[in-house]
Amino acid sequence: MPSLPEKPLSNVPLQLHQPKNFQFDSVPESHAWRDLHDHPTVDPIGPDTVPLIDLTDPKLTAKISKACEEWDVFQITGHGVQPDLLTRLEAQIHRLFALSADRKLKAAKSPGDVSGYGLVPISSFFSKLMWSEGFTISGSPLHHAQKLWPDDYSSFCDVVEEFDNVMRQLGNKLLHKILLSLGLSKEDIIRACPVRDWHDMSAAVQLNSYPPCPDPDRTIGLAAHTDSSFLTLLYQNSVSGLQILRSKDHTGPMRWVTVPPVPNTFTVNIGDLMHVLSNVRFRSVMHRAMVNPAKHRISVGFFCGPPMDVKVGPINKLTGPERGPVYRPVTWQEYQRLRRKLFDKALEAIKIGEEIA
Ligand code: OGA
Ligand code: NI
Repeated sequence: MPSLPEKPLSNVPLQLHQPKNFQFDSVPESHAWRDLHDHPTVDPIGPDTVPLIDLTDPKLTAKISKACEEWDVFQITGHGVQPDLLTRLEAQIHRLFALSADRKLKAAKSPGDVSGYGLVPISSFFSKLMWSEGFTISGSPLHHAQKLWPDDYSSFCDVVEEFDNVMRQLGNKLLHKILLSLGLSKEDIIRACPVRDWHDMSAAVQLNSYPPCPDPDRTIGLAAHTDSSFLTLLYQNSVSGLQILRSKDHTGPMRWVTVPPVPNTFTVNIGDLMHVLSNVRFRSVMHRAMVNPAKHRISVGFFCGPPMDVKVGPINKLTGPERGPVYRPVTWQEYQRLRRKLFDKALEAIKIGEEIA
């Protein structure tokens, strides 16, 4: 994982990040990263293939359980999301990032705000810029969409709203399946799951754009991180770039494994709040995005979390004499505040007996 910088970037002028600045013949110092090759990168073959699970599989619970125990990440098919919706969403994402820099900056994130166009939230922890642009949607995108397309904002908003609805239902279903795969009964889940139904879930959508890069080995699209959510569903277009960090095991050392784009699948990864809820039975997975020398990559992260006012702590039934509750309960908002302050030390900060914040 890249080490924390000597001098974090504070208030990088967004102009530095404008798309015209990605049209370099080589990677400029501002975007040149060191430490990218801390662990070997392996091809997704043989035992290094992230499990692909069909959600209609009769053995679904067992498959999720095995995938989470071994990988903390899996890909899904049979999810019921229409390919046509993904095609329409992709078209809107291309439309958004193809706008002029001045236009996009009209929808820039205001300081302290989570929604809008700009740098990904973790950028402030690094002294180098990432080779990407992002647009975060938390709540309605209407206000920002009106600034981007004063005369035609509804086609963007309609697709995003349709996607949000479908993904909340899918996210909620997966959350329940993951809890079942931890060995909880339906009754346990009713009692202990912080999300009662899909309307109740908090969610955010992150649109990412990774322009082609002349020297992809010297830069990164999105630095290594874990997500703060319960789980994240990631859609990537046909260009590969997502890598997950796989722990050392009998098949090899710690290594970056590429998650290849498979048409109409999502990658589901365990986030920090599931790490807490499951009392470390399932762990949040470190991942990053690399860039491509010739192709424009886009991805969409759908982050699923608890209702904003609900505290999440280890589920009682998943604690026991050999492992008591490892973390204290936190709300998603409280945890996100810790992440903005401490980044990859946030989980440590809520460890029982080690609270430092
Ligand atoms: C994210 C993320 C990876 C990708 O948005 O949190 O991890 O491949 N994205 O874009
Ligand atoms: Ni992520």
